[in-house]
Amino acid sequence: MQAETQTIVVISKDPAVSALVASVAQFQPGTGVRKCASALGEINGTALQLAEENDLIIFRADGEPGRDAAAVREILRHTGGAARILALADASMPLADLRLLTEAGVREVLPDSASADELSAAIRACLNHEEPQPAAGARSSREGMVVAVSQSCGGAGATTLAVNLADCLTRRRGLRRQEAEFRVALLDLDIQFGTVASFLDLPPNRCLYELASEGFVPDSVFAEQSLSEAAPGLWVLASPAEIAPLHALKPEQVQALIAHLRLQFDFVVIGLPRALAEWLTPVLEASERLLMVTGSSVPAICQARRLLDFYAETSMSLQAEIVISRERKPLLAASHHKEAARLLQKPFKYWLPNDPSAAAAAADRGVPLSVAAGRSALAKAVRRLSQDLIETRNARAHAAQSQHGKAV
Ligand SMILES: Nc1ncnc2c1ncn2[C@@H]1O[C@H](COP(=O)(O)OP(=O)(O)O)[C@@H](O)[C@H]1O
Ligand SMILES: [Mg+2]
Repeated sequence: MQAETQTIVVISKDPAVSALVASVAQFQPGTGVRKCASALGEINGTALQLAEENDLIIFRADGEPGRDAAAVREILRHTGGAARILALADASMPLADLRLLTEAGVREVLPDSASADELSAAIRACLNHEEPQPAAGARSSREGMVVAVSQSCGGAGATTLAVNLADCLTRRRGLRRQEAEFRVALLDLDIQFGTVASFLDLPPNRCLYELASEGFVPDSVFAEQSLSEAAPGLWVLASPAEIAPLHALKPEQVQALIAHLRLQFDFVVIGLPRALAEWLTPVLEASERLLMVTGSSVPAICQARRLLDFYAETSMSLQAEIVISRERKPLLAASHHKEAARLLQKPFKYWLPNDPSAAAAAADRGVPLSVAAGRSALAKAVRRLSQDLIETRNARAHAAQSQHGKAV
């Protein structure tokens, strides 16, 4: 008997499905089949383990495509996109449900009336075919959206925005708001003076200090393990208590860290220091949006302009947007606003109202605004901003999906 060189796991409550796969696989030399009599969406951690231990997952879509799609996404995140997954479904499955599964990353959905030949071809294609690597610089729809948050002057409210934006991007639902629709990583790259940890009542995190002092390039395990979960869906890499020289961090380290986080999360929100460093280049190159938090006073606007010029030189394609902090959007733009927008060559896109009581309530308790003052004007303004970003991300995912549809 030939030794097994690859294994398929079949997750299905219907033994006929497992039997069909087993009968097809016996004609593929060295292929073993494991059976799991359950539904994919019901086995949570076990599914992640099965994904690690096997080369291919085949599951029977059990009539709850939303739950199946969530499980598929979780598996792909856990394996850094490496897991290969096929689904078998009732031939009458609605197109919208089919899309849910393929958008989540299922390679192919076959009708359970598929012939042995069809199933065999799909299995072979999955097992022998490596995922094509995206061209350098291209963004895959499965990669998370990177949003950098910068500030023109200290105290502008950049950390407040980064923390609460990351919190809102999880879009938690449910009775106790425990179910996060998106997984969000919040990375505090203000490595010397970052305050994200205190905004969320987390301890400082040594990981960025270790990176800076030991010089290794982080792998996906380091990226995953250095984060702590502050709320459902919200994972934080806080800055360290020890002060490391800003330039000790190297561009290739930051580039690798962001690349791993993008594979594991839907959004990566990055708080930047006000100082300039070489490693800002990979951050700016990876960022789909840069939010510049600034007051509308002349010195703040001049400083914002200088930073934006530097960022634009570093990354030509960066889309920077202005967030005016501590001001409500006026009905009619005041002349000094028009003048400032002209100087920046950018409109004032977002406004965060001055809301000291909400800001203080959240900061004092070490919780996001959504917990301390969810109905405040400041919380609502951040939520609106997060909706814009979610729409942008979803539009990108749909565009990539229809592009993919045209290609096949
Ligand atoms: N829109 C706002 N209205 C009132 N107070 C705010 C607002 N945004 C931030 N603050 C408060 O201002 C202080 C500085 O905010 P922070 O976000 O740390 O600024 P930065 O990161 O730009 O230095 C904090 O005490 C915070 O609670
Ligand atoms: Mg700050």
